[in-house]
Amino acid sequence: VNEIVVSCSAGEYPIRFGELGDAFLPEPENAFVVTDRHVDSAWGHAMPSHAPRLVLEPGEASKSLKVFGDVHDWLLSLGADRKSTILAVGGGVIGDLAGFVAATYMRGVRCVQVPTTLLAQVDSSVGGKVAIDIPDGKNVVGAFAPPSEVWISCETLTTLPERQFINGMAEVIKYGLIADPTLDAHLSSHTWSANEPDLPSIVRRCVDLKRDVVERDEFDLNGLRATLNFGHTVGHALEAALRYEGLLHGEAIAIGMIVETRVAERIGFAHAGLAHEVAERIRRVGLPTTHELLSQPDTLIPLMRKDKKSEGGSIAMSLIAKIGECKLIPSVPDSDVVAALTGL
Ligand code: GLY
Repeated sequence: VNEIVVSCSAGEYPIRFGELGDAFLPEPENAFVVTDRHVDSAWGHAMPSHAPRLVLEPGEASKSLKVFGDVHDWLLSLGADRKSTILAVGGGVIGDLAGFVAATYMRGVRCVQVPTTLLAQVDSSVGGKVAIDIPDGKNVVGAFAPPSEVWISCETLTTLPERQFINGMAEVIKYGLIADPTLDAHLSSHTWSANEPDLPSIVRRCVDLKRDVVERDEFDLNGLRATLNFGHTVGHALEAALRYEGLLHGEAIAIGMIVETRVAERIGFAHAGLAHEVAERIRRVGLPTTHELLSQPDTLIPLMRKDKKSEGGSIAMSLIAKIGECKLIPSVPDSDVVAALTGL
């Protein structure tokens, strides 16, 4: 069977790879589908026909306390009980929201994650982090709640808008940079699209790399899981400064990976020229390499201090020393961050 099994404190769960329709076979009883309008119009025909389906608005705004409550109301009104299963069919927003609902509805029900974007397949659907946003902070309310199963179907990537596909490539590139020089070299040897025959094996490799990290640091405590956050200190600050409009998550962390590698060079953690190598990889897949907000460190620095990796008010970053090697640096000097942002 084409599957990867993830061990976690609650036991283990499989990540299976196959056709989308097979994800729902045998058609589960007592299941409730949570999805969004885009995924429903492209793939609704493959979803279980008998299961009640809640179709939400696409976009980060659905990860709110209000929608979180609405999903609970919907489940209760339809008689969902403790034996029910939530099928979260969609990208990171649906996975995070429905996964968190599953963690709390009647103190927890089963959740099958069916990620339909590249970003959700290689990152957010694996590892059990689920959350919603509050107005001043992304993912501030959440839990570690492993799914009961993850089903990955690369055919769903064929209906993604190109920008969304490229967005997910940022996280794919990240895995090569933080943990796998072979993957990194392989990525540079192809032009990637949803129809590239080698894509499923790339997705599988990324998932396996994430499995290894989350098995060794499930609760993000020893710095290893934080390496998945390479590019994210700057990326999250950009997203927050733009109020989650304008840059997609992958686009923001692509820029973040370049800036953070400039920081790594400046503090002598990485060799000179590594940021240029990172930028080449980002540019090659069509991701942005810069943003006008980088010239406003006064806006970005305070946001970086609010990062979940930060302790005692210093700026923390997960930095690469070379391709395939990443480490959490708990405190980087503000002056180096300012210089890296502004390209000095
Ligand atoms: N997306 C980062 C993590 O799962 O830890």
